[in-house]
Amino acid sequence: MTGQAPAVSRRKRPAGVATTDVTLSAHIGSNADVFPLVLDLHVPRGSRVADVTWGKGAFWRKVPADAYQVHATDLQTGVDCRALPYADQELDCVVLDPPYMEGLFRRDVEHLAGSGSHAAFRGRYSNGAATEAGTGPRYHDAVLDLYLRAGTEAHRVLRNHGVFIVKCQDEVSANRQRLTHVELINAYAEAGFYCKDLFVVVRPNRPVVARLLRQEHARKNHSYFLVFVKLDPRHPKRLRAVSSNR
Ligand SMILES: C[S@@+](CC[C@H](N)C(=O)[O-])C[C@H]1O[C@@H](n2cnc3c(N)ncnc32)[C@H](O)[C@@H]1O
Repeated sequence: MTGQAPAVSRRKRPAGVATTDVTLSAHIGSNADVFPLVLDLHVPRGSRVADVTWGKGAFWRKVPADAYQVHATDLQTGVDCRALPYADQELDCVVLDPPYMEGLFRRDVEHLAGSGSHAAFRGRYSNGAATEAGTGPRYHDAVLDLYLRAGTEAHRVLRNHGVFIVKCQDEVSANRQRLTHVELINAYAEAGFYCKDLFVVVRPNRPVVARLLRQEHARKNHSYFLVFVKLDPRHPKRLRAVSSNR
């Protein structure tokens, strides 16, 4: 016997609680169902948010009207997402959802996807105008070009550690698989964004394929919300914890 007191365990009790009440990465539903979850986890209430491809504002249908300071713009209302009317580093969050299908980037308006009975689709997903004639990128590269130029502009108007939410969907173009979400993650990383999160949205209904001859690729019934954080160029390795609304 040495008379010493018994050793006290110095192991820390783990913090936190066991729960299944967490935000999940994959959801069957609509953009309007998933977008509020993305905001809740990544964008503190009261933030100044610019949705630069507002369309019909469908993303915001289930977000409380007073939750954010929202600036809604679109090419249809005269604001190009590649030339935004904001000062450098003015915003906390930018939301981008341009036309994601190469069929919506054609030089002749007659050749735009979504004609005839699908006109409502075209109206919802594009500005209904043909791509400018000239030597610019075509087809899927035109899709990427718009995303990348808009990304450069978002980088300019976001403050350091601001959040860039990007909606996209992969596509098969000229019979080639183009994984748009991978292309964007890689390109935006070069531009100074860290891809912090990825949400998968699975549509609840089965897509119809018109004129199927032979199937070569799985028909896509999912899309993505990608969540990027603008890195501070002076401290590109530093990430700041965000106080989520959860
Ligand atoms: C997929 S829809 C956006 C739908 C929207 N997120 C919603 O919730 O209703 C694409 C939108 O991008 C717009 N658009 C296309 N090119 C644009 C550009 N260069 N700048 C800004 N908006 C653009 C179209 O007018 C269209 O409203």
